[in-house]
Amino acid sequence: MRIDIISVVPDLMRSPFDGSIMKRAQDAGLVDVYFHNLRDYTTNTYKQVDDYPYGGGAGMVLMIAPIDKCISALKAERDYDAVIYMTPDGNVLNQGTANQLSLLKNIIVLCGHYKGVDQRVRDLFVTHEVSIGDYVLSGGELAAAVLCDSIIRLIPGVLGNETSALTDSFQDGLLAPPVYTRPADYNGHKVPDILTSGNTPKVDTWREEQALAITKKKRPDLME
Ligand code: ADE
Repeated sequence: MRIDIISVVPDLMRSPFDGSIMKRAQDAGLVDVYFHNLRDYTTNTYKQVDDYPYGGGAGMVLMIAPIDKCISALKAERDYDAVIYMTPDGNVLNQGTANQLSLLKNIIVLCGHYKGVDQRVRDLFVTHEVSIGDYVLSGGELAAAVLCDSIIRLIPGVLGNETSALTDSFQDGLLAPPVYTRPADYNGHKVPDILTSGNTPKVDTWREEQALAITKKKRPDLME
């Protein structure tokens, strides 16, 4: 998979890609991530990427020309399956969307900043609009990092233990059961006996029951 991320402040999101699973996936050649600074696609001396909104009002709007130039340069090199715009008014990200996007080959992720992008960018280039929740961030960069993490960990081969992503919360529509590790007794707080019994079928049943009970309690909406 190849991910091209377009932003006015790409440095804001480099570090999440430089460690842990997202780095491992890149090192293993399972995903290539490229950052593009929108300022490199400006034609004016001041490298201006934003301007005042027509009709007045607070905030600046990212201009269409540098975004068009950047997306067109990328599209001239290869085909893209999706151009995703990170925006608080997009479709709220969930595990289903992450699963679908993880199957794509080449994607562009466009980060908004300031008041967002000129509407014509959305009309002309964007195929998916994604929000990471009902709150407003200063820009789409952190949201893009969240989206990419949720996608990259699902690419086959990225997680050491292939079943690991399958047992994540939400992957089967339920929250994950509790997990424990050594010691089995911490100052009198014991690990459930079943987990140390060595009886795998019983452990599986216990985990399913726990997942159901926890989902029912914390997120009854997921049971519907
Ligand atoms: N940009 C600003 N806020 C955002 C959000 N909640 N999700 C995606 N992109 C954003």
